[in-house]
Amino acid sequence: MRILLYTGKGGVGKTSVSAACALRCAELGYRTVVLSTDSAHSLGDSFDTRIGSDLVELAPNLWGQEIDLLHQMDKYWGRVQEYLNVLFSWRGMDSLVAEETSVLPGMAELASLMHISHLADSGDYDTIIIDAAPTGSTLQLLSFPDIARWYIEKIMPFERRTLQIARPIVSRMSDLPLPDDDLFESVEDLVNVLERTSLLLGDSQVSSMRLVINPERMVIKEAQRAYAYLNLYGYAVDSVVCNRVFPQELQDVYFSGWIEAQRRNLAFVEEAFQPLPISRIPFFEEEVLGQNMLRRMAATLFGDDLERGGEGDPTRLFYQGEPQKIFARNGHYILSIALPLVAKDEVNLHRSVVDELIVRIGNWKRNIALPIGLARLKIDGAKYEGDRLNILFRKQEGHADDALDSLQSSPWEQLKSRLQGDVV
Ligand SMILES: Nc1ncnc2c1ncn2[C@@H]1O[C@H](COP(=O)(O)OP(=O)(O)O)[C@@H](O)[C@H]1O
Ligand SMILES: [Mg+2]
Repeated sequence: MRILLYTGKGGVGKTSVSAACALRCAELGYRTVVLSTDSAHSLGDSFDTRIGSDLVELAPNLWGQEIDLLHQMDKYWGRVQEYLNVLFSWRGMDSLVAEETSVLPGMAELASLMHISHLADSGDYDTIIIDAAPTGSTLQLLSFPDIARWYIEKIMPFERRTLQIARPIVSRMSDLPLPDDDLFESVEDLVNVLERTSLLLGDSQVSSMRLVINPERMVIKEAQRAYAYLNLYGYAVDSVVCNRVFPQELQDVYFSGWIEAQRRNLAFVEEAFQPLPISRIPFFEEEVLGQNMLRRMAATLFGDDLERGGEGDPTRLFYQGEPQKIFARNGHYILSIALPLVAKDEVNLHRSVVDELIVRIGNWKRNIALPIGLARLKIDGAKYEGDRLNILFRKQEGHADDALDSLQSSPWEQLKSRLQGDVV
């Protein structure tokens, strides 16, 4: 089974690309389901039909579903949220504010991604395609189910075991709302599904993330940031799809500025994402609506080889390996980048803005977006190790970054102490 997740900024063509990919997979004979988790659903438009929150058959071997975020959130998070509402209101918080506060950032998105595990475990599908734009906080909760469990348990005033002993005493002395056993079980269920989803999405043989972009500076920058976080949390990105590229034959004077800008931006795309394969889709003369247009999009994206397992099979791994990864070692965080075929010349590092690192080796150039945790650290140097370049960032004493600290042996101590006692 394969899970393919297309992500990118709103409007770049995620839904169209996901739909085109799904149709191709189905036509290759894979039992395929395509899900959109964006609340502004348009998967139905792509297939020129109505898709709702229940699975709909769209073509032979192909099913689609537009996830209802609120419903998903209710399903996984509802019981916990109910309790937190009561708790926060009891503490004098206005009920509307309490309701908002009881939702963790990224939770709705997270809950909709958790639906993947149900589809995967049903055994009904060979390919699951997800049209989604997970944010940093969603990825973080997903990568470390431990922290989610800890966090959820921490915002409840008692741990389960303590409560078993303390319940009679507390209820005699105070009207503090106490969580019941059912609630702890809901948390257990929630974390179990979370762990399963995390395992699926974190397995590079099962799941591939694909970045969808347009040749526009802002769009590329945002995709670079997403890429930085996907790398930080260890998700395998295997390709980049550059959509809406003006065709070569376009010679319009009015558009000449745009054509020139695209040319420059396409070069920048290579600096930002190589060695990942980058495929291009032209700006079509019409919208991508209905199966004929989706098939046309799939042909430009995957080629015409309609052999299962062949060149045109979207389920194959487009890239294997770790172009960029981050880990901790001896007082440093190390940003490690793959350098296949690059002559090991003098390395030139340049930081143009705080969170951007430009690496030059001879004619070779790479533009890397840094996750916030790294961006604020000093660089101690760089060295070649095998066919990788390791850039050393000096850890700051007493400074904790949630994401980066997960790389240390005792992961959440810092965060725990920061949050401890915040609620009760
Ligand atoms: N290559 C393309 N050529 C022409 N129109 C496109 C292309 N890619 C996407 N579109 C159109 O652009 C709009 C936005 O695309 P969509 O896939 O919904 O983006 P997203 O899901 O990223 O918000 C849709 O109307 C779609 O048909
Ligand atoms: Mg969309």
